[in-house]
Amino acid sequence: MNVATEVCILCAGTGWKTVSQGGERRVARCDCRMQARSKTLLEAARIPRRYEHCELSNFEFDGPHRALAPARMAACKFVEEYPVDNTGLLLIGSIGVGKTHLAVGLIKELVLSKGIHCLFYDYRELLKQIQNSYNNSVQTTELDVLRPVFETEVLVLDELGAVKPTEWVWDTVSLILNTRYNDNRTTIITTNFDDRPAGSVGGPRGAAREETLGDRIGERMRSRLHEMCRIVKMDGEDFRQKFRSASFR
Ligand SMILES: Nc1ncnc2c1ncn2[C@@H]1O[C@H](COP(=O)(O)OP(=O)(O)OP(=O)(O)O)[C@@H](O)[C@H]1O
Ligand SMILES: [Mg+2]
Ligand SMILES: [Zn+2]
Repeated sequence: MNVATEVCILCAGTGWKTVSQGGERRVARCDCRMQARSKTLLEAARIPRRYEHCELSNFEFDGPHRALAPARMAACKFVEEYPVDNTGLLLIGSIGVGKTHLAVGLIKELVLSKGIHCLFYDYRELLKQIQNSYNNSVQTTELDVLRPVFETEVLVLDELGAVKPTEWVWDTVSLILNTRYNDNRTTIITTNFDDRPAGSVGGPRGAAREETLGDRIGERMRSRLHEMCRIVKMDGEDFRQKFRSASFR
């Protein structure tokens, strides 16, 4: 990462370059600074290695995947309109349809094309880190973990509801979502759970598929989510099983 130390031929290290536009000359931020900024922002987004390959441009949505076209369209529209419209997205679908891929693709695009501060967090991992901060032998405090989650411009919360709900889990989720809501920040959420009220599905308790988002995060938080996000349903088959090929991890 020698972008900053090597002297740039465009700006001779000043960070500013002269551009002519319609016969007029003005000064603009040099590409070298933009690249350095993108790189820093991408690293700060903490996208897990497993999802590093995910982009909007390699998200397939035709042929056998055409049911995903509306979801991709919603993602592109989101990137285009952010931050003028900063309503988040709630990506709902079964296992392996491409929810995380789309969410990662989105924030990468926001970073690269708009220089937006984004942060990716797996819901289970986040709760684990918060819980771990209560441990006396650990230096980080709860707020150390939560501050970036509260403050980042766009947060991806992957797999919402994936942790067995307890009083503590509910309190923590509502602290996070309410804080971001009150600060008018954007949250992109993925979940496997149907967007239906708590207790609306009969059948064997405990089987995850039989539970709803309401069961897992509580009705108040589900209704809060509706204020924060547009719902995007993703239909399709499990990409991992169905469409695995040599070129494909
Ligand atoms: N439309 C798509 N085009 C290209 N690759 C895809 C598409 N959908 C999914 N994939 C790939 O399939 C794999 C599984 O997708 P992903 O992890 O996004 O699914 P998911 O809906 O988040 O699943 P889970 O519910 O298990 O979290 C990933 O490697 C992803 O890159
Ligand atoms: Mg996922
Ligand atoms: Zn330069």
